[in-house]
Amino acid sequence: MKYKEIKKDRELREYIARGNEKLGVMGYTDHSEKHCILVAERAGMILKKFEYPEHTIELAKIAGFMHDIGNCVNRSHHAEYGALLANEWMKKTDISLEDRIQIMSAIASHDESTGSAFDALSAALILADKTDVRRNRVRDKERATYDMHDRVNFAVTESHFKISLPKKQISLNLQIDENICTMYEYFDIFLGRMQMCRKAADILGARFRLTANGSKIL
Ligand SMILES: [Fe+2]
Ligand SMILES: [Fe+2]
Repeated sequence: MKYKEIKKDRELREYIARGNEKLGVMGYTDHSEKHCILVAERAGMILKKFEYPEHTIELAKIAGFMHDIGNCVNRSHHAEYGALLANEWMKKTDISLEDRIQIMSAIASHDESTGSAFDALSAALILADKTDVRRNRVRDKERATYDMHDRVNFAVTESHFKISLPKKQISLNLQIDENICTMYEYFDIFLGRMQMCRKAADILGARFRLTANGSKIL
């Protein structure tokens, strides 16, 4: 079964939608299908740029689409719950045991609280997920009710993700409106994730570079 069919699957889409709904009530930013598709396609693009085989690229897209399904079980440990749920779902398909284990393992390792990159697939998933920082991940609500996560995402007026194969560099360039959130708040929330990206880039033999308002941060 291919990514193109998987992203249309009713059951998976329901897991994502219900998980995202729950996270909305809990005050989290957007984790809808839009985020999952962006992560799937960015993870695939990363491995394509680094010239990985087509099959690995396909697995990255599948893992990317399913990476947050565990939110419909519980936000805490959603990576591990999601991995098990994904494996159970994949057993109904023609995805091989070997591929299932790779996908399951990458999903289980994507959250900064318990995971880190250990192979190309998990590295691409982490890089794609942690660099999805954008203003429209903030849910539609009163500005006065924004928490720090909302403000930090809302403050990002521009977000550019780039890969340079000759320089062996993966970069995230952000424009941050410092009237909305201070650099301190930004780092308080994102430093752990950006360090996770650095380790992931390492696995791909590249450097992770973060710039904010034109200044090099990492
Ligand atoms: Fe996640
Ligand atoms: Fe995610």
